[in-house]
Order: sequence, then structure tokens, then C-alpha cells
Amino acid sequence: MRRSRFLLAGAGAMIAAALPRLSSRALASDTLDYTLTSAPLAFSPAPGVNFAGLAYNGTIPGPVLRLSHGQRLRAKFVNLSGQPATIHWHGMILPNKMDGVEGVTQAAVPTRESFLYDFTPDPPGTRWYHDHISDGVARGLFGLIIVEDPKDERADKEFALVFHDVPNLSTIEAAMNGVSTAPMVDPIGSPEMTQMQPDDKMGDEVAYVAHCINGASYPNTQKLAVKVGDRVRLRILNANPTQTRYVRLAGHRLTVTHSDGNRLERPLEVDALRVGVAERYDAYFEVTKPGAFLLQGLSSAPLAFQQAAVVYTEGMENAPPLSSPQTLQGVDYFTYEKAAGTGSTPVPKAAHHYTLGGGDYGSNKWKMNGKTYPNTDKIYVRSGDDVTVSFLNKTDMDHPMHLHGHTFLLTEVDGKPLARPLAKDTTLVRANGGTATWSFKADSPPGRWLLHCHNEIHMMDGLMTEVVYRP
Ligand code: C2O
Ligand code: CU
Repeated sequence: MRRSRFLLAGAGAMIAAALPRLSSRALASDTLDYTLTSAPLAFSPAPGVNFAGLAYNGTIPGPVLRLSHGQRLRAKFVNLSGQPATIHWHGMILPNKMDGVEGVTQAAVPTRESFLYDFTPDPPGTRWYHDHISDGVARGLFGLIIVEDPKDERADKEFALVFHDVPNLSTIEAAMNGVSTAPMVDPIGSPEMTQMQPDDKMGDEVAYVAHCINGASYPNTQKLAVKVGDRVRLRILNANPTQTRYVRLAGHRLTVTHSDGNRLERPLEVDALRVGVAERYDAYFEVTKPGAFLLQGLSSAPLAFQQAAVVYTEGMENAPPLSSPQTLQGVDYFTYEKAAGTGSTPVPKAAHHYTLGGGDYGSNKWKMNGKTYPNTDKIYVRSGDDVTVSFLNKTDMDHPMHLHGHTFLLTEVDGKPLARPLAKDTTLVRANGGTATWSFKADSPPGRWLLHCHNEIHMMDGLMTEVVYRP
């Protein structure tokens, strides 16, 4: 029994890591037809962990969908999960009725029925797909979709890595009611930890029983083979439903080139990535020496060592890998301010403002301007409008705020205007007074586009609104 579960977990691990270039056959055809079937999966990525998961095509994460820019995707979703579901295409600009939000852009697909998602994925870059609204993401319904950009510089090797974690499901419910006892596990030296007061009683954290990369936990994660001299591209997604991930490769600096799939105006070299919930980062590194090096998710959870994979040069596969300490003290990690530079031109006052609140101990409400979805203030726009939105976070947790169907520019963070605004679809708004300002043009297909916190607990507890196009 256990063995067969391990094999299933292993299969998930094999699928996503090493990415071949698109086959010439795929390039030649204009349309990629694909079937995604969701169904229950007994998921056992580590000894003693038997998780009642849900999976696309039998693996957590689901298969990597890879297309060239301009190709059309026809993804048939077959729902055998036992609960109503949809698929949302995170980071895509697409017809509103393809956006996959139950009750907003489509009716939920009942179990045993199917739905055809048909669109031409745009913009290019590292994006993802996932279930929406219910606990589907926490249960395993997510995967990467990579739209190749012909303008990207070539890499000798490319690895797509989904950082994800297996929740203790009962703590999700407790967290939704604000009475969870799970601790905060951000690494020492992280802003989250530093802002913690010794007597903080939060009640909003989810506990995780296993930490994975591409469906497996260390030491069973797939090993990543490289050669000295290789320029290696990493595409990294944080699919954890609640926690920020810091990602570090021992012995190497990482050059970040894309954030949420969108190219940075200037690449940024760092020791570690900071990846908020639902964010993606593309980073390159050069293999300058032979060896074995751990690529790790850093946190202070006792099981943090599990979120690691070995990068090795020939013959070093079984050498003890170089690792990094589970701390951020003295570590030069990615921030929006470093990537964008801080400017001096003040950012004009945004037309739409949200103060993020709620989340008190024992409360099941997270609020925007004092209201919970669906009663939150909507943003009404007309096609062609220039839209600005600002956030002030008065709660004691960071919020990874996400807008569907648009790429916005992050123009301000914590009162600092950004010199080279970052093109993104999700940004962390820091706890305890953090701010962020977005600007975007309302030139997406008309419809109702969700704007919400991507922490699943906060979203389900009301931290959500909509950008609505008016005729
Ligand atoms: Cu990843 Cu509502 O989105
Ligand atoms: Cu939040």
C-alpha cells in the first residue's frame, strides 16, 4: 500500500522538473489539445504522511503545460474530484468567461461533468493554473503553465519547480475561525518574524505536515543534473496556500529576470528569492564549479529540510550536498524595492483605495474597507481607463494581493515610489502599516475580474473584491 503511494508521488516528481524544449511537432500545430482530469489522490510525499489530496491527471502538482506564445490552448477539464470545481488561469489575460471563477465568470463544473477552456495564452511567461474558491489548492489542484517567450535568452538547462506543502486540513478550518494554534514559521531574520510581538496571539496560521518540491520531499525529490559552465534557468512557483517562501541555492547567487512571468527591466542578483503566495520568479545561475548543492525553501518549521532538491554536476550525485542555514540573517534576498529601485517622483494619489483589516483573534473575517466579499467596494471601469489602486495593510499578516486578467505595474511600496515599476499580477502588502500602489490600463476583455488576497484563508474569509467593466 505505502509503496504504491510512493510511486504515485514519485511520478509527480518526475513530470515537472526537467523541461525539454518544445517539440517541433508542438510548434508546428496551432492548437494544443489537452485534457485535465481532477480526481482524489492518496498523496504520500514523505514517510507517515497520508494525505487525502486532489490531483490533476494523477499527480500533485498537475502536469506542466507548455506552449509557444501564440499557440491556442484547448484544455478540457473533466471533474472527477467529487466536488464542484473550476480552473483559473493565473496571470493570463483571456476572455472573461475562460477565467474560471465559480459564480462570477462561469457556473461551477459539477462532479462527473466537463468544461472546455479555450483561449490563446497571453502574455508569455511562467504562469499557473489552479482550482478556485474552495479548498482545492490546499488539496493539490494546481500546476504550471509555461508560455515560451521567443525573446528570452537561451538557457542550457531549465527546471520548473513548484514549491508546495501538505496542510493539516483541520488547521485550515481553525485558521478560518481565527483560533488555530499553528505557529508562524517564517525564517529568522525575515520581516514577518521581525515584526512579531512576543505576545502575539494570531490564530490564522495553517500547519503543514510535509514540504515538497514537485510532489516529493527531500531526500526523495528529483535530483537536478547540471554541467560546469551551464547557464541554468529556474522557474519557481510558490503554491503554498498561506506562506511566503524564501528560496536559496547553496554556493550560488541567483539572477532574477522575471517576476510573475514578466521580464524585469533590469535583472537583479540576490542570495535568495522571496516568493509570496502565488508569485513566480524566473532566475538564472551559472555552474562555475563541480559539486552538489541544495536548492532549499527556508523556514523555521521543524520539517523545513524537506523542501529541498539537489543540484549536482556529473559524478557528484551522491556527494553530501552543500546546504544553507535556515535563516535570513545577513542574506541578500529579493525585494520589490531592490528589483525596481526607489525613485523620487511621488506616486499620485490612487483613485481607488483599500484599507485591509480584520483577522482578529477568534474572528472569521478579513476585510477591505471594513467589508467582506461580496459586500466589498467594487472598482468600476470603462475600457481604456487608467486605473490606480492603493492598499494600506492594518493587519498583522502580509497579504499577497492578486488581480485576475490584467498585468499591473507596482509603482509604490511602503511609501517609496519605484523607479522602474514592476509588471506583476500578485504583490505582497506588508503587515502592520505596509502599503502598495498598482496602476493598469483597463484594456483587458470586459467582464468581472476578481481582486483578492491569495492567502486562501483570507480569501475564503472575505478579503476579495472585483474590477468590473462597464459598457
Ligand atoms: Cu491564483 Cu483568484 O487566483
Ligand atoms: Cu491576506
